[in-house]
Amino acid sequence: MEKTIAVLPGDGIGPEIIQQAVKVLQAVADKYQHSFHIQEYAFGGAAIDRHGQPLPDETLAACQAADAVLMGAVGGPKWDDVPKEIRPEKGLLALRKRLGLYANLRPSRLFSQLKAASPLRADISEQGFDFVIVRELTGGIYFGNHQTFEEDGQTYAEDNLRYSEAEIRRILTVAFTTAQKRNKKLCLVDKANVLDSSKLWRKICQTMASDYPDVDVNYMYVDNAAMQIVGNPGQFDTIVTENMFGDILSDVASMITGSIGMIPSASMAEGSFGLYEPIHGSAPDIAGQNIANPIGTILSTAMMLDYSLGLSKEARAIEKVVDQFLDQGYRSADTLTPGMQELSCSAIGDYIAQAI
Ligand code: NAI
Ligand code: MG
Repeated sequence: MEKTIAVLPGDGIGPEIIQQAVKVLQAVADKYQHSFHIQEYAFGGAAIDRHGQPLPDETLAACQAADAVLMGAVGGPKWDDVPKEIRPEKGLLALRKRLGLYANLRPSRLFSQLKAASPLRADISEQGFDFVIVRELTGGIYFGNHQTFEEDGQTYAEDNLRYSEAEIRRILTVAFTTAQKRNKKLCLVDKANVLDSSKLWRKICQTMASDYPDVDVNYMYVDNAAMQIVGNPGQFDTIVTENMFGDILSDVASMITGSIGMIPSASMAEGSFGLYEPIHGSAPDIAGQNIANPIGTILSTAMMLDYSLGLSKEARAIEKVVDQFLDQGYRSADTLTPGMQELSCSAIGDYIAQAI
């Protein structure tokens, strides 16, 4: 199969971890006889240095023309003083918006080999968990009207939480189909006891449920969901929620895995197009030392193969090799525990590419 992948290494550890992911993609192409056209483009701080802006036209056009985008991370202290309009994060927000990436998928899974790294109580982590949060990414309060105004001699500020039926329906479609591919359990997290927008989410979800008879649906208030993720994460399979609730809950969900460097993410547009990146940032404190953990990025390529390129067998192969890597007692610096063997960033990429 012939596919085009736009690669945005970005800043800090971005280029190091992306290099490992590209090795793995090339190994997949060789083994399964695909032809991946992989090309790198300037993005983030690196693009500010070279082109004076974080999202050059050429980069945006290449992403729009590709079947999928693979990204490292952007930002760092070097660009703290650049004008607000051209900051690296501005480039990331603009890219998400321009590519129409409305569905953010964040798996949260406790690797059985890394239980000791989780901050969860031992009896809870012992049970394990494996769920995914489907977060709406381009609507809700972050994109509503924001205003600060004077009234009755006081300053007020307001932010408006608004969703249309169409926006809710398209993210719920992603959530239902995601649940179908997993363990067929979907939990809608909302605040339907208070918010009209949440009531609309629930109503639409209830009507859509009959189109997915194989999926079990349940509903949970967001405050309870925050407790349940920490107290009994094993109950979840697929969680779907609006933008701000998803922002907060997905950080809780990544924390309980104990290792930010292991976790991939996907941001999907209409159809099968998506942008894939590890959940962590550019980690300037460890950049250039060849000690970053590339596994979150490598697992992001597995999500890309599965969701955007229709290559699920190849995706499962990568996940299996990551498990095998951990089973063998190899660890990245950030997940190292006594008795395990530390491998560098590039050695981890070599191992996984070779095992494929
Ligand atoms: P960060 O995620 O870059 O780092 C937090 C801590 O985790 C650091 O101690 C770092 O060394 C460690 N860490 C992160 N990824 C790691 C990996 N793969 N292997 C081993 N250790 C790892 O978050 P921080 O420090 O708050 O942000 C640094 C820069 O990254 C900032 O400029 C921030 O704006 C940007 N950022 C970019 C994101 C993106 O591109 N999507 C997301 C989050 C932050
Ligand atoms: Mg966040």
